[in-house]
Formats: sequence, structure tokens, C-alpha cells
Amino acid sequence: MNADHGPGSAPGADEALQAEFDARIAANQRVEPRDWMPEAYRRTLVRQVSQHAHSEIIGMQPEGDWIASAPSLRRKAILLAKVQDEAGHGLYLYAAAETLGVDRDDLTERLIEGRQKYSSIFNYPSLSYADVGVIGWLVDGAAICNQVPLCRTSFGPYARAMVRICKEESFHQRQGYELLMRMMEGTEGQRRMVQDAVDRWWWPSLMMFGPPDAESPNTQQSMTWGIKIDTNDDLRQRFVDMTVPQAERLGVTLPDPDLVWNAERGHHDFGTPDWDELKQVIKGDGPKNAERVSRRRAAHEKGAWVREAATAYARKQQEATV
Ligand SMILES: [Fe+2]
Ligand SMILES: [Fe+2]
Repeated sequence: MNADHGPGSAPGADEALQAEFDARIAANQRVEPRDWMPEAYRRTLVRQVSQHAHSEIIGMQPEGDWIASAPSLRRKAILLAKVQDEAGHGLYLYAAAETLGVDRDDLTERLIEGRQKYSSIFNYPSLSYADVGVIGWLVDGAAICNQVPLCRTSFGPYARAMVRICKEESFHQRQGYELLMRMMEGTEGQRRMVQDAVDRWWWPSLMMFGPPDAESPNTQQSMTWGIKIDTNDDLRQRFVDMTVPQAERLGVTLPDPDLVWNAERGHHDFGTPDWDELKQVIKGDGPKNAERVSRRRAAHEKGAWVREAATAYARKQQEATV
């Protein structure tokens, strides 16, 4: 990465490289893996991209739980495709992180040892098939709000991964909404299941955007670097404004008595999420943290023979060509 920035660099070389980097960011041009970049920029990106990759992989679990008991062949095919997409997203993102000079195995170790985080939302349980629909509608919907701006993020491999991912996320959101539409046209019991799932997932979905801006000290630096495009609160507002009409169309109530259109602001006002709950979940004390990580660890251990076999095969192929 910083190959031409060794100890033997001429005096002033640092400043020149930094100035070149700053100019590139100011001109909205992409930073590529071989370009010089400040160490703090690289570190921030490694953290953000790997946490994003972990979220895709851990995010397979709440819905994956329902594959075996999907109510029809059609629903099973849709859900399988969706969960497989999430595995693919994890793959693109680990590959993007590796262009920053880190190793995927090491990132996985950090996840299963609890040294790296993933999105807080996946620490909540999925209790009925309506949760599959609500996760698609709200959780993938929130992910779209977060990720569409990231298609313009300053680091090239991350931005390009996001373009591919966002296309699939919009399918995820639609399949969730379509499932809920069908359920709302069904029996009273099905409608109750949908409302119950909405009640449980609404607030955690709002928390997906992170703490309020006033408590998000790294936002400003990340925005200056073009890693982050919008603030947490702006994205949260966009999500609420986008979701309210969809909820009305669906016929469900969003569980927030303070949710009201504010004509003066041209946005919806809404209540305050329980930030203490978010802190607790991030700290590792959410309803499903321990289970999510231990299942990931078990899957990683169970897959060791595949990695060993692939490595042995690659070595043999290499030897054969020498
Ligand atoms: Fe995804
Ligand atoms: Fe998704």
C-alpha cells in the first residue's frame, strides 16, 4: 500500500503524498488499493468494510433459521436465494477488505473471538415466518438507505462492491414486502403475526443507523474522507420518511405514538429509540449475541477440512505447472 512511502522517503514526501490524497478526495475521485493513503484512513476502512462483511454473514442466521420450515416451495426458493445472496455480499466485502492488506482468515478470527462487531440488528430473534417478511422490508430497507450512498464512497473496491450489493438488496426488500402483502390479505391470525413482527423489529431497525450524530464522534472525519456520505440521523430520517407510506399501504401500525408528519420540516417527526438497549446489544448483551457468534465459530471449525483441501489442491496445481 504505502510502498513508495518508506523510511528512505525524501523530506517533504509525506506532505506531498498527503496533498495528492486530499486533492483526490476533494475532486470526488476514487482511491485505489495501490494509491498512497493515510494510515488512519486505511484503518478506518478496514474496520468498516470488515464489520460490514461480518454483518452480511451473521445476517444469514435469523432468516436461515426458517429455510427448513418455509410454508411453500416457492417461499423456500425465494428465501434460499436471499440468504445465499447475503453470503455473496460477505464474500465481495471480505475481498474488498483484503485489498487493504488484511487477511480474511484473520478477520474471521477477530469476529469469532468477539474482537470485531457486526450490525446490532442480527442479535434479535426471528420468532415467526412473518419475521422473514419484516426483515426483508425493514432490515434490508434500512440497509438500502445506508448502502446506496456508499456506492459513491471514496475507496474504489468498496464502492464497486456496493453497486453489486445494492442491486440485490432491492430484490430482498421487495420479496419481504410481497410476503407481508400476501399475509395481510390472509387470515386474522396472519395479520396479527405481521403486526407482532413489525412491533418487534421497528425500533431495532431505527438503531441500525447507529447512535445519534451528537454521540457519533467519528462521523465528521469519515465524512471528510468520503468514507461516509450522510450522517446517522439524516439516514434514519430518510428511512422513516420512506417507510411510513409503505406501512400505510400494508395496513400495519408502526409502534411509535410520536410518529407524525411535520409539514414545516417536510419530514416525519418520530420518537427516540432506546439508546441504552443499543449500547447493551453492541456490548454483546443482546438477546442472541452469544448464539450468533458461537454458530459462526462452529461453522468455521466445521469448514476447516474444506479450506485444507482447497489449499492442498492449489499447491498441487502450482507444483504441476512448475
Ligand atoms: Fe446483504
Ligand atoms: Fe439483504
